[in-house]
Amino acid sequence: MNKKILITGGAGFIGSNFIHYLLKNTDYEILNLDALTYAGNLENLRNVKDDKRYGFIKCDIRIKDDLKKVFAENEFYGVINFAAESHVDRSILEPAVFIDTNVKGTLNLLQMSLEARVSRFLQISTDEVYGELENAEDKPFTENSQIKPNSPYAASKAASDLLALSFMRTYKMDVIVTRCSNNYGPYQFPEKLIPLIIYKALKNEKLPVYGDGLNVRDWIHVDDHSKGVLLAFEKGESGSVYNIGSRNEKKNIDLVKEILSMLNRSENLIEFVKDRPGHDRRYAINPSKIEKELGFFSEHDFTKSLKETIEWYKNNSPWVEDCTSGAYMEYYEKNYKHKMEGE
Ligand code: NAD
Ligand code: TYD
Repeated sequence: MNKKILITGGAGFIGSNFIHYLLKNTDYEILNLDALTYAGNLENLRNVKDDKRYGFIKCDIRIKDDLKKVFAENEFYGVINFAAESHVDRSILEPAVFIDTNVKGTLNLLQMSLEARVSRFLQISTDEVYGELENAEDKPFTENSQIKPNSPYAASKAASDLLALSFMRTYKMDVIVTRCSNNYGPYQFPEKLIPLIIYKALKNEKLPVYGDGLNVRDWIHVDDHSKGVLLAFEKGESGSVYNIGSRNEKKNIDLVKEILSMLNRSENLIEFVKDRPGHDRRYAINPSKIEKELGFFSEHDFTKSLKETIEWYKNNSPWVEDCTSGAYMEYYEKNYKHKMEGE
């Protein structure tokens, strides 16, 4: 019988890409558990919904009794926890839900996994737990860098990442943590920089660039992230943390201009707006450990993959319209206006 893995948050951006990746590259059975918040969309998985190795259950990791039922009805070889509130801007406006899902929800999953004696628990974390690098000369984060999160999102991810590691030390549970840099690719909700810029530029709308636009992010294609997660899940040393990254730093303003040039749109669309409070200046990740120990390397050329991502958004306008309508958009427009008006 094939081993069964519980993937939480599998209807979101990275989780759904990871499920596609697993079905293509492994013979695992998958149960996708997702609460389907504004960021979760089963359309992301329409191509695989009839695959015999794939199943879905709507469930909220904040509700322990519901999780209990899922663990009682299934025998999981492993758990990979992608489920999270994931947007820094939202965490500034509404931090409480980030603690409920990212911290308490992860604790529920850890406790259920411990009781069920799953063979391995992998917590998906982020480079944002390390805080920021202030200067261009500062060395990229390693796994030994200080944990020093700055936004409520990053603090909630740091708490869940450290909680997972504490289960290793305290209960001898088999835990791995991966910390990845900024992802891009298909199915990313258009609240994050790259899809937001693509969709607004396609509509010739103003493009909000926070502050002076000189903040730096380290971009990795989502399939390279999936590759690193699978390697860590299958071959990682129990109790280890692995950074995943592509050594691909870009200033926000340069990235926005690159997208505009690929779309053949004017740079006049760019509008510098009020900065994000607490905005981290620079992230950069050193992936040497996963490269040396597990043979990881990223395969995607940024320029080529960014072009493909743009094409994906052009060809999937109904998906984008679906994301950007309704209650979510009301929230977004309110937040956006607030920035444009510089309140
Ligand atoms: P996303 O917001 O696109 O997806 C999150 C998914 O989790 C959604 O499907 C949502 O419905 C689900 N979810 C939210 N709350 C839930 C709950 N209480 N119970 C069950 N499901 C719930 O996020 P993403 O960008 O795909 O990020 C996935 C994971 O990767 C997160 O843990 C995030 O912190 C981490 N990460 C993201 C990036 C990035 O660049 N996006 C980089 C590094 C790490
Ligand atoms: P984002 O995609 O929200 O990811 P994160 O904050 O988790 O790195 O933002 C990436 C960078 O782009 C970050 O420096 C903030 C900036 N940004 C803008 O300038 N304008 C925007 O509208 C958004 C969403 C982000």
